Amino acid sequence: MKPSRQSVQIWDPIVRFTHWAVAALVLWDLYEDSGGPLHRNLGYAAACLVLVRVAWSMVGNGAGNIREWLPGRGGVVAYVKAAIAGRPPRHLGHNPLGALMMLVLWILILSLAATGWMSRLDMFWGEDWPKELHGILADALLALVSVHVVAAILMSRLHRENLILSMVTGRKPAAPDQRKPSAGDGEPASSSDPPAISDPRAVSPGRRP
Ligand code: HEM
Ligand code: HEM
Repeated sequence: MKPSRQSVQIWDPIVRFTHWAVAALVLWDLYEDSGGPLHRNLGYAAACLVLVRVAWSMVGNGAGNIREWLPGRGGVVAYVKAAIAGRPPRHLGHNPLGALMMLVLWILILSLAATGWMSRLDMFWGEDWPKELHGILADALLALVSVHVVAAILMSRLHRENLILSMVTGRKPAAPDQRKPSAGDGEPASSSDPPAISDPRAVSPGRRP
């Protein structure tokens, strides 16, 4: 029997745990949006886990470390151009656009905790704007999380890998699937995929030789 595609460990347990715990807490707070004690405590818990993940990105090793994923402006622009051309290069860690999204999601979650806290301070008694800002940030978070999930599904199809499962197991295929696409078998782009960029900082502006 042919061995399955070789895989490599990419996401450590802390990255995976914080991701799924934050996702569950945020989704719950978007659903149970009364502002009651449960909502507030789960919101603070989500913000604390984001802070744990931020700290881990300073001290942890591997693809979750900030040195590996912090996107430069040039990297994001090159990636967007390649994506518009229909050939976004595969990255073993976060791609530059995904890393940018991750930063925005973190900032939104921390800002939600801050505005939620502010909305209950005596200092802002009678003021509506902290609550209104909290609601606007929550709407923005919901919109971006939807984009994030759709992007994870689309990129999985394009590169013929299961990014969502990778966030569960921590493992990704070392190389893209080289199967020839068949009718109705997803994006043809992946049959000529560039190899994965194992250094997540490196950005290929287009196809690799
Ligand atoms: C409120 C919900 C969510 C938030 C705030 C969120 C946030 C994030 C963040 C911050 C990362 C970066 C992970 C890290 O390095 O620590 C990430 C990665 C990822 N998320 Fe989510 N996420 C959410 C829900 C989901 C859901 C529901 C799915 C799948 C259906 C998903 C799939 C993924 C995948 C596949 C990655 C890794 C992307 C890659 O390979 O570069 N996320 N998410
Ligand atoms: C992941 C974090 C959070 C999310 C996604 C979130 C989301 C939401 C949403 C969608 C609403 C309804 C807004 C509206 O009706 O316009 C809301 C209301 C509220 N949230 Fe949060 N929230 C989060 C964290 C927090 C935290 C940490 C607090 C802490 C105090 C908090 C306090 C409140 C309060 C007091 C309200 C009610 C505001 C009102 O009376 O209109 N939230 N939140």
